[in-house]
Amino acid sequence: MRKKGLASIFALLLAVTVQGQHVMSVDVSKPVARIQPTMYGIFFEDINFGADGGLYAELVKNRSFEFPQPFVGWTPFGNVTVRDEAPCFDRNPHYVRIVNDGGLLRAGLDNEGYRGIGLKQGEEYRFTAYVRIPDAAPVKLSVELVNAGGENPLKKEIEVRGSGWQKVTAVLQSPFTDAHARLRVLLSTAGTVDIDHISLFPVKTWKNRENGLRADLVQALYDLNPGVFRFPGGCIIEGNSLATRYQWKNSVGPVENRPLNENRWNYTFKHKAFPDYFQSLGLGFYEYFLLSEDIGAEPLPVLSCGLSCQYESNEVVPLEQLDPYVQDALDLIEFANGAVTTEWGRLRADMGHPEPFGLKMIGIGNEQWGEVYPERLEVFTEAIRARYPDIKVVGSSGPSAGGDKFDYLWPEMKRIGVDLVDEHYYMAPDWFFANATRYDSYDRKGPKVFAGEYASHDHATGKANNFLAALSEAAFMTGLERNADVVHLATYAPLFAHADAWQWNPDLIWFDNLRVMRTPSYYVQQMYGMNPGTDVLSLQMEGAPVTGKDGLYATAALDGNTGEVILKIVNAAGKRNDVRIDFDGLRRGKLVSGSCTYLQADDPKTVNTLEQEVVVPRMRPVQVADRFLHLELQPYSFGVYRLQIRQK
Ligand code: AHR
Repeated sequence: MRKKGLASIFALLLAVTVQGQHVMSVDVSKPVARIQPTMYGIFFEDINFGADGGLYAELVKNRSFEFPQPFVGWTPFGNVTVRDEAPCFDRNPHYVRIVNDGGLLRAGLDNEGYRGIGLKQGEEYRFTAYVRIPDAAPVKLSVELVNAGGENPLKKEIEVRGSGWQKVTAVLQSPFTDAHARLRVLLSTAGTVDIDHISLFPVKTWKNRENGLRADLVQALYDLNPGVFRFPGGCIIEGNSLATRYQWKNSVGPVENRPLNENRWNYTFKHKAFPDYFQSLGLGFYEYFLLSEDIGAEPLPVLSCGLSCQYESNEVVPLEQLDPYVQDALDLIEFANGAVTTEWGRLRADMGHPEPFGLKMIGIGNEQWGEVYPERLEVFTEAIRARYPDIKVVGSSGPSAGGDKFDYLWPEMKRIGVDLVDEHYYMAPDWFFANATRYDSYDRKGPKVFAGEYASHDHATGKANNFLAALSEAAFMTGLERNADVVHLATYAPLFAHADAWQWNPDLIWFDNLRVMRTPSYYVQQMYGMNPGTDVLSLQMEGAPVTGKDGLYATAALDGNTGEVILKIVNAAGKRNDVRIDFDGLRRGKLVSGSCTYLQADDPKTVNTLEQEVVVPRMRPVQVADRFLHLELQPYSFGVYRLQIRQK
């Protein structure tokens, strides 16, 4: 009796807080919801030169001369003409004929790359091209790397003999580093040569694959530990018109014969037009699936639902003509998962991957709205369910976080019975802070949420990728995690931006032809992605979730694989906050001290640059005293704490 009395007095004393100290309690004994392994992922779109000129490591722009003006990206000199008789590739029929009459002037052409070609001294680059000598007289090509000053210190000669189209290859070691180099190909002997699909890749791509991806950019994705990988966009799947929608079947098979497509982001912003923005589709659906596998993320392809971008041409495929679109979706599932004896499974095997990719989800339509969308989505959903009942269908709630379109679409998604609903919100930091509670009141029985595109837009700073934006995303994401029974996927957008060729900001990762820069938002995503946990734990302050009181936001999870408790705590206030965490449901002495990974900046407007990343995660140890953790949270900070529960 006396013992019990002392224990309650002790507990009472502990519950009395020092003035100004916040007390949070985490109940470690009762997980309240599962966290999907797919929870934190990435969204990829060829915007901001994200694919061609970015992730896709091809250094030559318009390598097949298929741009509407076939010399875009090229500077021809001497006798160079574009032709298409007896082409090498039927779906990319253009090639150039170079004639050298033996005089002093030579003939050839330079490629400017994507705002230059990025070359690093000592690195090797693989040049390939398809050539033909129409008059059968052997010729010599000179392949040259030209620096920004116009000097061409590296020349490699290739002799061409024989008849018919043939592939030539040469590996060039760059003698210089330059972000704005050029590739020159010239006919150095008298004669005539036809040449097509002129390509230059770094030899060191991700996993050293030919037709590969930029290793530094894939590494940045890998380091996020993403659970899901959505591709190929965004609005790009819809196209400016139906004719230019993303058609996955054009993006598979031999890379040389994938037909060029206009990029949806070429003229979108009238003050920022990119007339030279096209999709080579060299990074196509096979490569996307392979990338998903490489980075350990579930693939989530999204396809056109038969509506072109409703902001642009707003074309609608009549319901009675929707079959080919639906067939594209069914065939895609076969391409990803089908046996090698099926038509599309065989193509996957021929491309090098006989094993299925294990596709589990497919998105139909992007930011669509109005009755035309559910009408079409329903047809797709029924067809997919009939043939592939295990595949989850992702529908859309339109382009914004609320309003008429959103309010109309959510009940429609429930009526159709899609598995997940894609929500998009590009909003101000205040919205993100205020919406940490957004999902607390969502219907637990309806479709799950895919927070498919979101980013905090700090308009006051020209939508800079600053720490304030990142902090507000971190605060908002505590609400995603707390509601992991409703929210199953979340992907920041857009992913990439070329510093010299972007249309949209902010973006998660910036790069130029040689460098990569991770934004503060990137590190927030990484801290969630690396520490997702498997189960939500109840975390409360004054009997309620921590959703902004005194600038504090917090969530707790259990990692069932490692036996750790994971806390994510944001202090959005410009002052220190003292916090004590009580761990309930723990027997004394079972929690072991651990570590904290944190981001902090005294000035919330701080940004990272290509020259210097200022906001980067740092680590420090944390001490658990008995079953309490005392924290002095720095102003403007976000921390992830991992504490081991000692198993007896
Ligand atoms: O992420 C950029 C664009 O934003 C996406 O393409 C589109 O879905 C949204 O409007």
